[in-house]
Amino acid sequence: LENGLARTPPMGFNNWNTTQCSATFNEAMVKGVADSFVSLGLKDVGYQYVNIDDCWAEKTRDASGNLVPEHTRFPHGIKSVADYVHAKGLKFGLYTSAGTKTCNGTGGFPGGLGHEQQDADLFASWGVDYLKYDNCNNQGVDAQQRYKAMRDALKKSGRPIVYSICEWGRTDPKVWTWGADVGNLWRTTGDISDNWSSMISRVHTNDDLAAYAGPGHWNDPDMLEVGNGGMTATEYRTHFSLWAMMAAPLLIGSDVRSASAATQAILKNTDVIALDQDPLGKQATIVSAGGGLAVYSKQLADGDRAVALLNETGATATVSTTASAIGLGGSPSYTLKDLWSKATRSTTGAISASVPSHGTVVYRVSRAGAQPDGWYQAEDATVAQ
Ligand code: DGJ
Repeated sequence: LENGLARTPPMGFNNWNTTQCSATFNEAMVKGVADSFVSLGLKDVGYQYVNIDDCWAEKTRDASGNLVPEHTRFPHGIKSVADYVHAKGLKFGLYTSAGTKTCNGTGGFPGGLGHEQQDADLFASWGVDYLKYDNCNNQGVDAQQRYKAMRDALKKSGRPIVYSICEWGRTDPKVWTWGADVGNLWRTTGDISDNWSSMISRVHTNDDLAAYAGPGHWNDPDMLEVGNGGMTATEYRTHFSLWAMMAAPLLIGSDVRSASAATQAILKNTDVIALDQDPLGKQATIVSAGGGLAVYSKQLADGDRAVALLNETGATATVSTTASAIGLGGSPSYTLKDLWSKATRSTTGAISASVPSHGTVVYRVSRAGAQPDGWYQAEDATVAQ
C-alpha cells in the first residue's frame, strides 16, 4: 500500500506466539516488552513496533458502539499503553478482525466488520501505529471488500497506520495478487507453530511469491518463534536467516523480557537484519533445490547478493552454488562474508559450505575490487579540487 509506511519490512514484537489469550497477556507485559526493547538494544538494531494481538477487548461494545479494553488486562485502557510505548521512542500496534468477532475467546470478541470507520477513528485517537486485521467470522463477505473497507477507514482517520492483512492467503483470488493496493503486508500462510516442520513449511509456501513483494507491500509468512523453546539454536538461526532472505516482517514472538543470551544473539544479528531491511526490498528466489538442500539468492541495493545454503536433511551436507548462478558474474574474484560466524574469505566463483542438519549458512557476496568505503568521498574531493 502506497501510504508511505513499511518501506522496509516491519520489525517489532507481537505477543500471540508466546501468550495467546492467557492471563500473562496484559498491560504489564506490553510495557515490559517496550522497556526491554530499549534495555536489550533491540530498539537500536531496528525493532520498533510493540504490537498486541487478540483478546485485548471486552466482549461487548459500549453504549456508543465503541470497543472497550478488557478491564483486568488493560485497567488503564489502550491509550495509556500506547503513550508508554511512544515515550520510549517506539510504535504501538493493535489487532482486530475483518469479521463480526475475532478468532479467539469463548463467545468471541467484537470484530470490525460494519464498524470500520468507528474503529479506525478510535484506534487513531488511541495512537495506534499498526493494525493487524484478522479474517475470522467474516460472514462470507468478499475478502477484498472487507479489507478495502478498513484500508479506506484507516486513511480517513488521518493517522499513518501500517496495515497488516491477516487473510492467510487462502481465498481466490489469492491475497498476494490484490494485497499491494490494499495493505502493507499480507499473510501468505496459516499460523506458524514452534517446531521445525511448521517453520520450514511456511518458507516453502512463500517460496514462489517473491515477485509480489517490495517496499510498502510485503509477503508475511507469519511471526517469529525464535526464543520460544521448540527448536534448536541451529533451527532458530535457519528461521531467522530465511525470514530475512524472504524480506518478511521480523516480529519477535517470544517474551523478550526473559530473552536468553542465545536468543538475543540471533535476534540482534545486524548483518542478517540488514538483508531483511535492505532498501531494494527484494525477496529471495530459489537458485536450486533438491534432495533436501536448497540455495536462495537475494539481490541487495549495493550490488551485493545474499545467498542462503539450506540443509533440511537429517545429516551434515555440502551445499554449493556459484557467483554466476546467484546473478553475480564478471568479476575475477568475490568476497564471501559468513553472516553468522563473521568469517570472510575470497573465491573465484565457487560458493560452498558444509551445513549441519537443519542449518543455514548465509553469505553476503561482494565483487572483489568493489570500492571500499570512503572511495566515493575521495573521488568527490578530487573533483572538488
Ligand atoms: C489467527 C491469526 O492468524 C493469528 O496470527 C492470531 O492473530 C490469531 N488469529 C488470534 O486469534
